[in-house]
Amino acid sequence: MKLRELFSFGRRKLPIEKEAERIYREKIGDRRVERGDGFDLVKYEGDYETYKEIQTAANKAKLNWRSVQQANIEWLCDRLAEDGNRLQRILCHGTRNGAEQSFFLAKLPGAEIIGTEISDTAAQFPMTIQWDFHEVKPEWVGTIDVVFSNSWDHSYNPEKLFPAWLSCVAPGGAMVLEWSERHAKNEASAIDPFRAELPALTKFVKGHAKGFLPPEIAYFGDKAYVITRAAKT
Ligand SMILES: C[S@@+](CC[C@H](N)C(=O)[O-])C[C@H]1O[C@@H](n2cnc3c(N)ncnc32)[C@H](O)[C@@H]1O
Repeated sequence: MKLRELFSFGRRKLPIEKEAERIYREKIGDRRVERGDGFDLVKYEGDYETYKEIQTAANKAKLNWRSVQQANIEWLCDRLAEDGNRLQRILCHGTRNGAEQSFFLAKLPGAEIIGTEISDTAAQFPMTIQWDFHEVKPEWVGTIDVVFSNSWDHSYNPEKLFPAWLSCVAPGGAMVLEWSERHAKNEASAIDPFRAELPALTKFVKGHAKGFLPPEIAYFGDKAYVITRAAKT
């Protein structure tokens, strides 16, 4: 058994984590996990409705929680602006109570900010649509200056996710994935199916970023950012 798994077993599970495991077991059976080099993926193949049910239940149980930090979004906007990134059209994925949209808007008054959230609670928050972030709206393709997310670990299929997000990036724009220790140290689970260490995440993105500049890693506070830019045309 790996150290991480020991740590996860030692950690007291939240009621919603136990409930998510119960739903998974009842609807799908024993946990199916793909183990890769620096990442694990809990599989939901053929069980999309169960994935959505578990994500929605977890969203409702944690509706007042917030991971994203305002200072980090301010820093990120400054850094992207310094590099000549336009900051007019921002797409945030997996936004729960809309915190990142409000932080982007405070820094970028007048920008168009869209957040996606799979749960029906999306309707409660401004700048938020109920939408599964594995899917792409035609009007997003090639038009988004910044695609931002710290929720990529909720993906049931990163091979589908990253091409979808990259397809939205406008020329000169960027996809920015926020990574923190929590994305690597906990076991992949029904709620957070995709666990990835930073090098593995970067490698995943690189594998799908044909025609993009090589991903850069930047650090602010206790977070790392994998920034993948589209060339300016
Ligand atoms: C860890 S929370 C992060 C919320 C927010 N970004 C923050 O920093 O506080 C992940 C959010 O992503 C949502 N989510 C999970 N899977 C999703 C999907 N496929 N499409 C859109 N949102 C999803 C969850 O419901 C949850 O609200």
